[in-house]
Amino acid sequence: MTALARELKLTDAEVKQAGLAGLMHDMGKAGIPLEILNKPGSLSDNEFHVVREHPKLGYDMLLKANISDPVTLDVCLHHHEKIDGSGYPEKLSSDQISLFAKMGGICDVYDAVTSTRAYKPAWEPGIALKRMASWSGHFDPVVFKAFVKSLGIYPIGTVVMLKSGRLAVVVRQNPDSLLKPVVKAFFSTKSKIHIPVIELDLSKNMDEIVGNESATAWGIGNIDHLWANH
Ligand SMILES: [Fe+2]
Repeated sequence: MTALARELKLTDAEVKQAGLAGLMHDMGKAGIPLEILNKPGSLSDNEFHVVREHPKLGYDMLLKANISDPVTLDVCLHHHEKIDGSGYPEKLSSDQISLFAKMGGICDVYDAVTSTRAYKPAWEPGIALKRMASWSGHFDPVVFKAFVKSLGIYPIGTVVMLKSGRLAVVVRQNPDSLLKPVVKAFFSTKSKIHIPVIELDLSKNMDEIVGNESATAWGIGNIDHLWANH
């Protein structure tokens, strides 16, 4: 949220509000039974109805806790609205949804689809952005474009193939050269073995990215530890 707010050239105070709203937006999930939240299969109509209560539930919790920041309250209540009016709880359409709620909606979906859940594996960052870009009527196109830009062409956590035949994961952006992020190489596709992890700044290194790659296609398990908390 803060990176997106900065990309949108919001003021420092608004960047802070956006970050706080991002932290508090899903408070209402605390009021949803865990067996519904973590259900591996698809939800029944009734369970889906319960889940859809969480924005209002969270909003009421925040008010009760004397949290009065209008952005926090707005993002909590409206982060599941969609610009075509098919979202919830109020079925707002594009011009009725605030900029902050549109930002929250995008960041929330990106976080959800790139996370492992009881009912689904995580999508890789590049794939997540491509799929989200194809959903018409869901996100505000201008805000989504800024979101993609804030993440970089190769978002952190993206697995890429290097010219040298090594697989690497993006750990940091180089703001001046989005095609050449800092990566950690961890696997040789030529010898099909893990190699000692080495950090490469591609803006200063001879190696380069030739494309996105699926780690699972190479039988590689979770590599989150290579880039998380970096
Ligand atoms: Fe939510």
